[in-house]
Amino acid sequence: MTPIRNIVILTGAGVSAESGIATFRGPGGLWEGHRVEDVCTPQALRRDPELVHRFYDERRAKLAEVEPNAAHRALARLDAEWAGELLLVTQNVDDLHERAGSKRLIHMHGELKSALCAECGKRAPHEGSLPPGSACPTCASPALRPDIVFFGEMPYAMHVIERALEQADLFVSIGTSGAVYPAAGFVHSARRMGIATLEMNLDPSEGSMMFDDSRRGPAGERVPEWVDEMLG
Ligand code: OAD
Repeated sequence: MTPIRNIVILTGAGVSAESGIATFRGPGGLWEGHRVEDVCTPQALRRDPELVHRFYDERRAKLAEVEPNAAHRALARLDAEWAGELLLVTQNVDDLHERAGSKRLIHMHGELKSALCAECGKRAPHEGSLPPGSACPTCASPALRPDIVFFGEMPYAMHVIERALEQADLFVSIGTSGAVYPAAGFVHSARRMGIATLEMNLDPSEGSMMFDDSRRGPAGERVPEWVDEMLG
């Protein structure tokens, strides 16, 4: 077996569940009481900007009430102590990985604490509420929107992620249902490239069969155990 040097880790909503942030596909398939297509598509933003902005304002405000959990902290420790390449790719828009201390981190689906100008395309850090029509700090257009990658839009930094996967010896997927592409396809790419694959999830995910090793249980327990193994 090739010794593991370079690691790509993908996280989803399950990694933040124990911090008190709702997953997307909870009971009933609703996200905090809303259908995903009513709050997470460009069409929804055009149709009802007040609703979409308010929805993300509430999610952003919630960040002040939550803390990183043992899984976030373990991944930050791995980032600090792992001598090889490591890239943590999160689908989560919360800031719990960075608050735990992770540095080699990509938010592929955007960030609650960032605003995106629909006019000039610049992104800027943002705190507090973001009413529709807020002015862009770069071009002054009244066009700031939540910096969330909606369905049908291109996730961030795909070329960086693809390059990291090409160099990786291990791909690890944590707390994601594997329902949303392109993230759900990373395990297929990893297998095609002959990279070892590991999943940690509470329930079997849609792609569980694709992984070499699949571990069941809460991220707050499975992830620290795995990080201890890796840092041995
Ligand atoms: P989902 O809500 O689809 O899936 C969360 C997964 O985490 C499920 O498989 C759960 O079984 C698992 N889970 C729940 N609690 C857990 C725990 N304590 N420990 C470990 N696993 C746990 O969320 P994602 O897969 O992240 O996109 O969803 C992917 C994307 O769909 C999101 O990034 C979002 C959404 O639409 C955008 O916002 C663009």
